[in-house]
Amino acid sequence: MTRSKHGRTDEEHSLSGPQKGDFIPPPELEERDERPDALPAQEEFWRPPTRFGSVPVEKEPLGWDRRRGFRKLFPQVMLPFQVVERVSFGHPELEPNRLFWGDNLHVMRQLSSESIDLIYIDPPFFSGRQYNVIFGDQNELRSFSDIWEGGMPGYLIWLNARLYEMKRLLKKTGSIYVHLDWHAVHYVKIEMDRIFGIGAGGGDRRTAGFRNEIAWCYSGGGVPKTEFPRKHDAILWYTRGSSWVFNTQYRPYSEGTQQRGRTQVKGKYFESGLRAEGTPVNDWWPDVKKITSPTDPEKIGYPTQKSEELVERIVRVATKEGDVVADFFIGGGTTAAVAQRLGRRWIASDQSRVAVAITADRLTRQVEEQTGKLFPVPDFTVEHWGVYEARRLADAPADQFRAFVLRAFGAVAEGAETGIHGYKGALPVWVGEPSPKKAVTAADVQAFANAMRKTLRYKQDNLRDGIMLAWAFRPDAMEAAERLRRLEQTDLNFIRLDMIRIDEPRFRQHIAVLSEGTKADYSNFLTFVQPPKVEVGYKRIARRTYAFDVSETVVLNAGARIINVQWDFDYSKRFSSTPGYSFVRKGKNEVALTAQYEFPSGGTKRVACKVQDDMGGEGLWTGEIEVK
Ligand SMILES: C[S@@+](CC[C@H](N)C(=O)[O-])C[C@H]1O[C@@H](n2cnc3c(N)ncnc32)[C@H](O)[C@@H]1O
Repeated sequence: MTRSKHGRTDEEHSLSGPQKGDFIPPPELEERDERPDALPAQEEFWRPPTRFGSVPVEKEPLGWDRRRGFRKLFPQVMLPFQVVERVSFGHPELEPNRLFWGDNLHVMRQLSSESIDLIYIDPPFFSGRQYNVIFGDQNELRSFSDIWEGGMPGYLIWLNARLYEMKRLLKKTGSIYVHLDWHAVHYVKIEMDRIFGIGAGGGDRRTAGFRNEIAWCYSGGGVPKTEFPRKHDAILWYTRGSSWVFNTQYRPYSEGTQQRGRTQVKGKYFESGLRAEGTPVNDWWPDVKKITSPTDPEKIGYPTQKSEELVERIVRVATKEGDVVADFFIGGGTTAAVAQRLGRRWIASDQSRVAVAITADRLTRQVEEQTGKLFPVPDFTVEHWGVYEARRLADAPADQFRAFVLRAFGAVAEGAETGIHGYKGALPVWVGEPSPKKAVTAADVQAFANAMRKTLRYKQDNLRDGIMLAWAFRPDAMEAAERLRRLEQTDLNFIRLDMIRIDEPRFRQHIAVLSEGTKADYSNFLTFVQPPKVEVGYKRIARRTYAFDVSETVVLNAGARIINVQWDFDYSKRFSSTPGYSFVRKGKNEVALTAQYEFPSGGTKRVACKVQDDMGGEGLWTGEIEVK
């Protein structure tokens, strides 16, 4: 072990941020009432100008409760993040970027306030149905049907709760860009004015809130006969505070302007002729690419994928190198890919397992394809919220496993050194080992009883009950508990975690009870999944060309079906799909379980295949092929 110049050991140095297998417990947040300054000074702010006459305006954003904010409608659910992967790019000393799979509201609630410079989001528009059909991830389906049931108000409430968290996460100088279109932009503008502030029109009047409505204009597609073609999206830009970052962007002068050698506008900038950088970009963007062609190399097949050029303009306007960019509706990974390429740090989330897999793959591939990298690329972690892989839980270090079980049980971790791992209300709780093979013994029971004897509630109040949570209890443990009950009136309640049928309602009831003091019922949020057992068959069909088939794959989650297959025909230590094989579809919407590939050369090749099911399970197969 050597010491680095900062006085840390190399080993310490190499361990920045969470590692694969870690559980990151949620922060200990108090259930507090909303801060009075959470929203702009509403009374003043919502008073419509007198020239408007009497306008019936709601004072607060839809869904807001004066005392409990959005937590009244959407309770706080503090579950840990499970780090299922850390993709390394050779700079372990840098803090990793983070990709979350889970509902962004709950993910965001566990991130630190004022930590992000720029948020760009492209939330599902008020037209949602297509995603359900294309992905069919169960989590996504459920949340979409919830949103659409309430119509437009339901959609706005759903979005408001998330926008509010985004505001909390933005730094004081941070910006948020929300990508919308005619379906919802007018309604969302009103809500965002209420959450962020109306800003102040024109020039330098520095007030927090609304800054611009950007029209992203494009062309192409069909032309209706009875109305104008709808050819722009609207992007609403708001700032958290009254100062912000704005790096003016330029685009080339039009040909006419260049020929005339001066602009039409006579202003202090232009009188002396043309500027080398071009003309400053205004709020109307006709010059930014839209992905339309099916053969566009940028296209990865994710519906509603935005072009990198569009996101790049926003990232450049609002941030500098090293700043943190977030997109909580990451979809196919565009924002993260742009941020990474431009040397910004990033945070991303999506509720669709497929979106997360595609994003992870896109970012890995980007690094592998980048030649002459400008920036050292930090690792990134893939973290799950609310859906946990059972097998990884069993492999977790004991203290993390215990913290996780206690949290899910609604207990507080406390006093592990005394032989008691935590308390549920006043009741002492003990948690067994992570491995299901290590059953609780009589000695464990005795040790827990001894520890309980030393507590005040035992000594002073003669309270003698406790809870033991574990995968299994040996018969001698049960006898020991029975003996304690008979001889000392000590009442130990054994709760078994069942590894065999982890998705059973009985299991959920045990670990996912109403947590004391809060109204949150975790049982609706907590899911355990098993990875599919991926089986790959292949055969040679021509010179260096092989046909692959994953249809023998077994999904282990009851009722699940495969929703995505990804192939890496040149697998080394990191999975990174071969271009065109990250989102393989048969026809338009159906996943293809077969693939054909022509290897560029012969010899021994390592091939990997990743499969995701619609419950969130993901499995990997790797194999070696002698290519002839
Ligand atoms: C319009 S797409 C984003 C496309 C993205 N801008 C791109 O370039 O690929 C919206 C995404 O939001 C995700 N989503 C919807 N509700 C969500 C939620 N509550 N939490 C996280 N992601 C969500 C969907 O799964 C979908 O991938």
